[in-house]
Amino acid sequence: MTDGVLLVHAFPLDARMWQEQQSSLAGRVPIAAVNLPGFGGTSLNGDVTTMELAAQRIVQELDRIGFDRAVVCGLSMGGYVTLELWRRHSDRVLGLVFANTKAEPDSEEGKQRRREVADLVLAEGTAAILEQMRTLVSLEATSDVWGFVEGIVRSQTPEAVAAASLGMASRPDSRPDLSGIDVPTLVISSEGDRLIASEVTAGMAEAIPGAEFAIIDGAGHLSNVERPIEFNRLLEQHLQRCGLLRGS
Ligand code: MLT
Repeated sequence: MTDGVLLVHAFPLDARMWQEQQSSLAGRVPIAAVNLPGFGGTSLNGDVTTMELAAQRIVQELDRIGFDRAVVCGLSMGGYVTLELWRRHSDRVLGLVFANTKAEPDSEEGKQRRREVADLVLAEGTAAILEQMRTLVSLEATSDVWGFVEGIVRSQTPEAVAAASLGMASRPDSRPDLSGIDVPTLVISSEGDRLIASEVTAGMAEAIPGAEFAIIDGAGHLSNVERPIEFNRLLEQHLQRCGLLRGS
């Protein structure tokens, strides 16, 4: 067993969204990206992917790849799931990165929107939500960036997307857990995030003892995809703090 980095993807993408991080760190640190239930062609586990089921998938992946503990980096939905992993399996967590995410649960209106997304994809297919998914990237994102994201979204099954949407709607309030986080933590947001405002993500960093906070300029919600160089620099510095990577 070893220690490594585990990357947890956003909604409704899959592990491929981390390709720039994996290629930059490959050979320097053990690194893997998990597919949450139903995404990236993996098996789905019921009609609602609760945070508990998603966290279980992470533990299965850690066991499968032989990571004793990991610096777990979750972006957006990946962050919601990482908070659940922390609640249930903190012994597997060496450090944390929360990117473009938040600890708050959904409002009633937010839950309703999740149900509508689930109904829509089940009725009309995943392509039906592509237009609304444009907010995953900034207004300045290039067509290459959007094409990359769109291709990943389009390939997900409606069942996986619907189950994740309903699972996020039922996620708990993670704010009470933040003050108990006692591993090195980095919180990242970005200036052009149209889904989770940087002030909201900043609130997470304030509530986690000793957490570092950084804002990436010129990136939208998928900050690792839009600004991989800046994202990788922050990630590498954090891996050094966690003792996983030596300074260059
Ligand atoms: C994500 O990127 O995972 C989603 O935007 C999260 C959300 O809808 O709350």
